Amino acid sequence: MKIRVLGSAAGGGFPQWNCNCPNCKAYREGSSQAKRRTQSSIAASSDGQNWALFNASPDILTQLHDFSKGIGTQQSLKLRETPLRAIILIDSQIDHTTGLLMLRESTTPLRVYCTEAVHEDLTTGNPLFNVLSSYSKVDWQPIRFDDSGKFIFEVEGVSGLRFTAYPLKSKAPPYSPRRKNPSGGETIGVLIEDIRTGKKLFYSPGLGEIESHVPALFSNSDCVLVDGTFWSENEMRDLGIADKPARALGHLPQSGPGGMIEVLSSMKKPRKILTHINNTNPIINEDSPEHQELLRAGIEVSFDGMEIEL
Ligand code: MLT
Ligand code: MN
Ligand code: ZN
Repeated sequence: MKIRVLGSAAGGGFPQWNCNCPNCKAYREGSSQAKRRTQSSIAASSDGQNWALFNASPDILTQLHDFSKGIGTQQSLKLRETPLRAIILIDSQIDHTTGLLMLRESTTPLRVYCTEAVHEDLTTGNPLFNVLSSYSKVDWQPIRFDDSGKFIFEVEGVSGLRFTAYPLKSKAPPYSPRRKNPSGGETIGVLIEDIRTGKKLFYSPGLGEIESHVPALFSNSDCVLVDGTFWSENEMRDLGIADKPARALGHLPQSGPGGMIEVLSSMKKPRKILTHINNTNPIINEDSPEHQELLRAGIEVSFDGMEIEL
């Protein structure tokens, strides 16, 4: 299978438009070894021609433009057609959903896989689906967990891949009534499996807690592409930006006891890659001691345009 990282940043991207934190400032001054990053999204394919899009970020048009040499060039498409065959939403956050509006020209209803919780947010507090009903329309494919807590599906047109969605504890968006009263399904992680080769990648850009089902998902995968939002629990507070600890925002930090480095270090099999990096995270600067510490732990940092082949 092929995975293309379309956007590797958390909400706001990097540099963030109004931010003068050390990372954003140094990027603008050209004084750090850091890459520009758009907001969190990937595409997955088995044949390299037909793709499933994960999340629709506000940066999607730029992302697709940058990807245009790799997408839609090897097959004959109708006058108005895309090889992005469906969209799988990880949550209903702004950084993962507002790009849907940029896809309104679709001549067929946008096939969107998401949970009922996400569907509710996108038809009430952030009614993107309602707006789209006057454009392309949305063909909602519900993700409903079975008794064993997962949902297995295939996407029409994306042959060769099997997807399994799992509920994860993270945080619903600030606009959602579910932020304070979660009822499940606000956030998912998805295991992407190549049916022919059996290779597996687990994708979870939002993961606040290592729940009991998570370690096996990580350690049985060939690659994990997981939450790399914050380096430390109090990163935003220490920078004087906001008094919001990482875990309270639904993101497990990398450093410290129980952090992502510790969790991943115990696992032998998977290739380990972080994504959904916040602009405040020191790992954005490749010369930083934090970035170097990750590399020593065998953990990579994804970047826009990264290609993973399994
Ligand atoms: C999050 O995952 O917490 C988001 O990146 C927040 C946002 O999009 O503003
Ligand atoms: Mn996000
Ligand atoms: Zn910043």
